[in-house]
Amino acid sequence: MDHDTAYLTGLFALEGRVAVVTGGSSGIGRAIAEALARCGASVVLVARREDELAATAAALESHGRRAAWVSADLGSREAVHRAAEEAAAAFGEPDILVNAAGINLRPPMDDLTPRDWDTTMAVNLDAPFLLGQRFAPGMAGRGYGRLIHIASQQAFRASFTSGAYGVSKAGLVALARSQAEAWSGRGVTANTLVPGFVMTPLNRRLADDPDRVKELAARTLTGRNGLAEDFAGAAVFLAGPSSGYVTGQAVFVDGGFSAH
Ligand SMILES: NC(=O)c1ccc[n+]([C@@H]2O[C@H](COP(=O)([O-])OP(=O)(O)OC[C@H]3O[C@@H](n4cnc5c(N)ncnc54)[C@H](OP(=O)(O)O)[C@@H]3O)[C@@H](O)[C@H]2O)c1
Repeated sequence: MDHDTAYLTGLFALEGRVAVVTGGSSGIGRAIAEALARCGASVVLVARREDELAATAAALESHGRRAAWVSADLGSREAVHRAAEEAAAAFGEPDILVNAAGINLRPPMDDLTPRDWDTTMAVNLDAPFLLGQRFAPGMAGRGYGRLIHIASQQAFRASFTSGAYGVSKAGLVALARSQAEAWSGRGVTANTLVPGFVMTPLNRRLADDPDRVKELAARTLTGRNGLAEDFAGAAVFLAGPSSGYVTGQAVFVDGGFSAH
């Protein structure tokens, strides 16, 4: 090795940290969960489907890390509260919270019902808020915490039927700022990662249209669409010691989609 391992460790290592990752069983959340685990964190995954959760936990454990999972529908406040307690029971109170669970219902605005609105807000915005309220004061008390939310281009501009989804993601960007204001002085940062178009199950419908996929790739500066793995490094940075002076920010991981 010709690099300074101790220096790298000081910047990025998550040894001894506990992370809760919602949506950690698929796509971007799964890639982030794996990255945090491989950098040393014990990880608790939260999502609904048990098979995906168990398979992801096994994958993290295969890297020699501790992993646990909680099955919960984050669209229900009661379930969010229960999931938070169960998650904290696995390895202790978390130091890192990643809110990656999200849904995008995409009905045209004319057809968007109050029910679509409520479901979207519950999963995409209310759950991150409630989990932040549950975990962040403890992080602040211990002097270290990292809140990471996954937002969207649609928090900043309307496209692809932004509907309720774009509003929920814009709320998440503002929530990170409010959390940053509240807790950064006590060691808890709050930021959002902003993807472009990422090839995950969430986008299966769009991803099945090769012309659309090509057209979206052409709108980036890198010439390709995102992969879940593209979020690993940014998440490790935002979860780790070296990002302590980065807070209240929206960090775009989008191949330059938003830059032109
Ligand atoms: N892919 C993109 O292009 C893109 C772009 C911008 C933003 N994002 C955001 O990135 C995040 C991750 O998306 P992804 O693309 O990785 O999608 P994904 O592969 O579909 O993963 C979504 C995850 O959220 C969980 N989830 C969904 N609804 C839930 C609920 N009601 N309760 C608990 N867990 C729930 C899913 O597990 P279960 O279904 O088992 O519950 C799954 O683990 C989302 O917040 C999404 O809005 C994605």
